[in-house]
Amino acid sequence: MFINKDKKRLNTMHSPIDVKDRLQNLIIHKETDYAKSIYKNPVKEYIDSKTAINEKKIIFEESPICIGTAALVPNKGDWYTVDIGIKSILIVRNNKTEISAYLNICSHRGAKLVEGSGTKAYAFKCPYHSWIYNLNGELKARPRENAFEEINKDQCSLKKFELDNHQGFLWLIMNKKAKNKHSSNKTDLNKLLTNYNFNKYHHFKSIKINPKLNWKLAVDTFLELYHIDELHTKSLAPIIKNDLQIFDTYGKNIRIIGARHSAVKLNRVLKNQREFDIHTIQLRIIFPNTILVCHPDHVEVWQIVPKSEVDECEVSFSLYTKEAFSSKSAIRHWNNNFNLALDAVVKEDFPLGENVQKGFYADPNRKIIFGKNEPALQHFHKQIKLDLKLSA
Ligand code: FES
Ligand SMILES: [Fe+2]
Repeated sequence: MFINKDKKRLNTMHSPIDVKDRLQNLIIHKETDYAKSIYKNPVKEYIDSKTAINEKKIIFEESPICIGTAALVPNKGDWYTVDIGIKSILIVRNNKTEISAYLNICSHRGAKLVEGSGTKAYAFKCPYHSWIYNLNGELKARPRENAFEEINKDQCSLKKFELDNHQGFLWLIMNKKAKNKHSSNKTDLNKLLTNYNFNKYHHFKSIKINPKLNWKLAVDTFLELYHIDELHTKSLAPIIKNDLQIFDTYGKNIRIIGARHSAVKLNRVLKNQREFDIHTIQLRIIFPNTILVCHPDHVEVWQIVPKSEVDECEVSFSLYTKEAFSSKSAIRHWNNNFNLALDAVVKEDFPLGENVQKGFYADPNRKIIFGKNEPALQHFHKQIKLDLKLSA
């Protein structure tokens, strides 16, 4: 077992020391993993519309972006939409093995084809003039065909984007620049997601929320455990230890591991992976917008996308279970878990965040401070800046 007897601050990121020993070491010394120094982040980045436009272009269009999971569309004809900024994307399972992504815009006069999500569709009918597309995005029928016969139906398909199903996560690749970045990111993701084959998880339930937050501020919510005791006094504080985290990075992606109070009470190194999963909270942040909160038998997935305005975003929250569920008691159990997680974020994190967002406008030239004990915030914002700079 690794113990630092000198009670010196340790920087063990990516060290060969077993993660269970690292956790016990932090618990014993009442410590946390640190960044090298504090980091000041300009408020402007959360309120500047020019920055928001750049981010949408560079980070959400010219980069691969995770927009959901295969488990959301388990059967042929299952579909959902994601609106990223002004672009609406339609995700459809066309057959057992293929899931496709289309621009959710009708090729006739540009109406939004569908809204929300659905199951077992065999075609999509435009709400404007009834043009009908099949699951492969091909135009199959249009009223008064003779008025349009100068343009063949096969020239009127929905615009299709590349979609890569990687370990059950769906990656939207909108262009060549995004494709080039995707393969190196996959190498990092494989390390971040070791032991997580998401193809095997079952989707329980999803909800969409539209907080008045810049999308990065919504992500920030999940990047530190320093606020647990103060903000989540009754919800999370009785379960999770405040301000203690193991921090690791995998390229742009991040892993944060916190201790449950049950781990502290045990007063010994956790014995195996199962024990480790039970007594910790594990967050995996898939850059830039997907947060997995991993529990032993289920995973919360939070996905955040910017909306048109700089101070608005859309958050989708989904709960996935390891085992299939059908009994009433299982559904009640997962509903309780779903509501607990949702309440902590929607009733506690987001209202506080909305106050922060409003406060940004009071002094827009200010910088906010990320402490040494908030390394994930630092890493996330540095990666964003790097991406924007590289493309400048
Ligand atoms: S815009 Fe879709 S049918 Fe006319
Ligand atoms: Fe929180």
